[in-house]
Amino acid sequence: MRKHHLIDLNDLTKTQWEQITELAIRIKNSPDKYADSCRGKILATLFYEPSTRTQMSFQTAMLRLGGSVIGFDNPQNSSVSKGENLVDTITIVSGYADIIAMRHPVEGAALAGAQYSRCPLINAGDGGHLHPTQTLTDLVTLASEIGDLNHLTIGLCGDLKNGRTVHSLIKALSHYKGMHFVLISTDALTLPDRFKEIIRASSNTYEECCSLEDAMSSLDVLYMTRIQKERFASEKLYNEQKNVYILTPDKLTSAKPELKILHPLPRVDEIAMEVDNDPRAIYFRQARYGVYARMALILTLLNAGVSEPVLKGISHGQHCKNPRCVTNNEPYLKSAFVMDGGLFHCEYCDAPLLL
Ligand code: NCD
Repeated sequence: MRKHHLIDLNDLTKTQWEQITELAIRIKNSPDKYADSCRGKILATLFYEPSTRTQMSFQTAMLRLGGSVIGFDNPQNSSVSKGENLVDTITIVSGYADIIAMRHPVEGAALAGAQYSRCPLINAGDGGHLHPTQTLTDLVTLASEIGDLNHLTIGLCGDLKNGRTVHSLIKALSHYKGMHFVLISTDALTLPDRFKEIIRASSNTYEECCSLEDAMSSLDVLYMTRIQKERFASEKLYNEQKNVYILTPDKLTSAKPELKILHPLPRVDEIAMEVDNDPRAIYFRQARYGVYARMALILTLLNAGVSEPVLKGISHGQHCKNPRCVTNNEPYLKSAFVMDGGLFHCEYCDAPLLL
């Protein structure tokens, strides 16, 4: 595990994350046994971007473990509005709290923060990059509702370009066998190549298509996503993409009876409300599994012990070219690149190093 932080689910081995999902299911089955497990401990939730479920499920998780919660959900009410940089905020807060959950609009912000944190730091979403605790939630949901996570055909539909939940989920599910990913998006919102490369390298398979109806009958799991309005350069570009995919009861007529429909939520209009009563729609249950997933993660990280250095890469005298990378937003950070699949990638945001 990279330190005792959780920046990317791949910081854990598959065995480690399966231990966390198993613990989550044990907590769900006997919550009273864990009601005092974090008595005296403090979670800080630092949310630089809007959130309902992730923030409140972290807070609920800590409170249900008997701990306490501090934090902000509007950085304008904190010293960030006075110009305080990320690292100073993390240095201070990690002296107050025992564990931090941070969401930030900039890619790689969680890894940057972890370098300066004295306590475990959890990535609760870093821009369009990753969202490992949503993936833990998704894995707990699938393990509880399906059991075996191998040999699944999983359709991912919507904003595959900017959807950090999709990126993290593909990275995790690529560790299972016989997975087939059906990537359903418009041409403008296709999955970035580096995630397709992860699928290929895992010996799993994928296909890309633009029709939800065409894909439907083959799917075991359908993972719907919101078009990520806040990641578009203009309202006009967003308007061209919104409303392209709307799941309605009639589109489900060809679906398998045992299909599971997931969505990290919030939904805008990509799932019609009439679908909510379909027994295959499990997205509200999925949100509840998120509390148990985060309880299990908090317990695991608080017991994880000694730290190791966070960064592995070196700068090669280069800078990341991704304008949304934290190294281009917090100028005191040193660049770091790591070799992956024969190419150097920015260790913070994963963008390839373009020379
Ligand atoms: C997701 C996120 O923030 O990336 N929501 C969540 O954490 N449950 C998905 C989204 O905002 O579309």
